[in-house]
Amino acid sequence: MATRDVVQLDPELLDRLIAQEERALADRQPRSIAHQQEARAHLPGGVSSSWQTAPPHPIYIDRGEGSRVWDLDGNVFVDYHNGYGAMVVGHAHPKVVEAVQRRITLGSHFAQPTEDGLIVAENLAERTGLPLWRFGNSGTETTLDATRLMRAATGRDLLLKVEGTYHGHHDALMVSVFPGPDDWGPREHPSSVAQTPGLPQSYVDLTLVVPFGDVEAVRRTFDAHPGEIAGMIVEPCMTNVGLLLPPDGWLQASKEICHANGAYFAFDEVKTGATLGWSGAIGAFGVTPDIACFAKSIGGGLPCGAIGGVPELMNLVERGKVDQVGTFNGNPLTMAASRAALTEILVPEAYGRFDQLNAIFRDGIDRVIDSHRLPAHLETLGAKGSITWRAEPLADYRDGFGVDDRPSYLSYLWQLNRGVFKSPWAKWESWTTSVVHADEDAQRYVDNFEELAAAITT
Ligand SMILES: Cc1ncc(COP(=O)(O)O)c(C=O)c1O
Repeated sequence: MATRDVVQLDPELLDRLIAQEERALADRQPRSIAHQQEARAHLPGGVSSSWQTAPPHPIYIDRGEGSRVWDLDGNVFVDYHNGYGAMVVGHAHPKVVEAVQRRITLGSHFAQPTEDGLIVAENLAERTGLPLWRFGNSGTETTLDATRLMRAATGRDLLLKVEGTYHGHHDALMVSVFPGPDDWGPREHPSSVAQTPGLPQSYVDLTLVVPFGDVEAVRRTFDAHPGEIAGMIVEPCMTNVGLLLPPDGWLQASKEICHANGAYFAFDEVKTGATLGWSGAIGAFGVTPDIACFAKSIGGGLPCGAIGGVPELMNLVERGKVDQVGTFNGNPLTMAASRAALTEILVPEAYGRFDQLNAIFRDGIDRVIDSHRLPAHLETLGAKGSITWRAEPLADYRDGFGVDDRPSYLSYLWQLNRGVFKSPWAKWESWTTSVVHADEDAQRYVDNFEELAAAITT
């Protein structure tokens, strides 16, 4: 591939601009900064999840409506964080509000199923082609259930995952999520690295790791562990190194290698499901796994999770061989919100809206990248998009690890100070749009990006 002629960004200029934007943000968010100090008395870090804080300080949200959120200081932002992509329906969508209000007056929890559960399961079956579904309350629970089912069905303990992907915070898959060069071993044979202290080494050893997109590594790993691997779980496109699409044929080939070895193949569609398109990654890439894990966007903004699988696996649940359980599974409020989101808002026609928004991003951002010769590239699919600050595309997590995070951190601050909120931990400039984002919202992002491009290339 021909290397693009790009400018070298000046690290000192980037540091100066970061300091300037941090000062400007502190001036705009005095109440948020004070609140973090107060909150620390009872909430470690002043937040409820470790990923809700990021430099320079957590962004405390007061309310949201449509494509906008308001912080504690009253600043308004176009929201591209979108609750890590859960809010593709937009904030406080009238249909979700109405469904939840109606449901809560009828009782919000029984630990027994309500009729909405079947409607949601039918809709997910139609989208994915996977007939049987069960619910949970988070993405973590879905990948936990998926790995347990694959292990139960095969009687094997080993799992295979991709280096650098996050599948939730349970022990089986908190392995090689963000490993660094000191631990990660050779690229062709990545080491299994605990993401956090507190993970028993015996669990870590049960989870083998391959690079994204590498068919031969999958084959080699199965060859090295004949009859021992229960299944492989993949995020069909990686969403935490920007948006990294799978190389042609990788998903299908991996599935075939799993099956040839008597193992199962699982998709983690927690971020991609119902956002990349109506059928999520299954539709976008034309590969149906044995089991799929959905969460985030399918709940209309309520805590949710769903696993769908082939009868061979899900019959283990039907027959009571595997317990798939949870007090709040299929809870009435989530099911009501989910039903409204899936059947009334995220209908097939809604997905055309993401393409229209992407056209604005692509026209604008590609033009800015070219005209300023930025060492960056853009990827978009469905409701997702990202700018990666590297001229050449990434192949895998390790390529991403090497990317300087200063331009994207500066961009996060820059956009915040100009009315746009993106996900914290913004090493990669990822975003999720919603069906209610307006053309002007997308243009705002592009205009801010153009101003930033000028500032870092002068
Ligand atoms: C791909 C993927 N899988 C699983 C999870 C875990 O989902 P949750 O945070 O709902 O437990 C996440 C969360 O960000 C995710 O991005």
